[in-house]
Amino acid sequence: MKIMRLLRTFEWRVLPILAKGLIGSGFLALLCRQREDRWLERWLPLIQARAMGLAVLEIGCGDGRDTAIIHRAGLKVKAIDISSAMVKRASVRVPSAVFFVQDLRAPFPIDRTGVVISSLSLHYFSWDETLDIIRRIRAVLWPGGILLCRLNSTKDVNFGAKGHAKIDNDFYLVHGTPKHFFDRSLIFKVFSGWKVLHIEEKETHRFILPKTIWEVILEVETK
Ligand SMILES: C[S@@+](CC[C@H](N)C(=O)[O-])C[C@H]1O[C@@H](n2cnc3c(N)ncnc32)[C@H](O)[C@@H]1O
Repeated sequence: MKIMRLLRTFEWRVLPILAKGLIGSGFLALLCRQREDRWLERWLPLIQARAMGLAVLEIGCGDGRDTAIIHRAGLKVKAIDISSAMVKRASVRVPSAVFFVQDLRAPFPIDRTGVVISSLSLHYFSWDETLDIIRRIRAVLWPGGILLCRLNSTKDVNFGAKGHAKIDNDFYLVHGTPKHFFDRSLIFKVFSGWKVLHIEEKETHRFILPKTIWEVILEVETK
């Protein structure tokens, strides 16, 4: 079953790049690179300063990779994901974090926090739903609170930014899943009213093929 799914969803266009990678870097090295994704580590001092003693809210936590990094830094975490299978894996990884199986489009299970983290989980929604989620993130953050997020880049051609059915501008149906892709101007548009502390477009190597993402740190502007 897993093999059938892999064959169905594999981006065959990238086979030549993959083959070049296999020959150039060696298969073992490529496999190891899948595990390197410690993007949060450099932000831990900032997260610690802004958490204000409250639990960090992580949205779309997946299998708890980032949850574990936050927890190891001595911070409390409350994490949400729609997939009960993912939450099960995350709670095995970080038993003392608090997990919620829920849709991000439903109200968040906390009143206030100083830090929200969203790694590759804000791109599944229509424009209005995306704006509403961002509005609710803003509502739970204290003044001076921050959102750390990673977003699909419009250059992320290995993971759907090209060659898929268009739903709307930079919004495609990628193997049955709707996915938004962002350029710099769209990020400033979607986060209008926020203070951008950091914005960087980069490649990650958590998967075998490089993935192009934006890493963005935003602060709730105090009026
Ligand atoms: C690409 S994964 C990222 C996981 C994790 N943040 C990481 O970087 O390893 C996206 C996650 O968002 C979750 N997700 C997708 N749609 C969601 C929704 N409507 N509500 C909550 N979580 C959702 C998926 O289950 C998945 O675990």
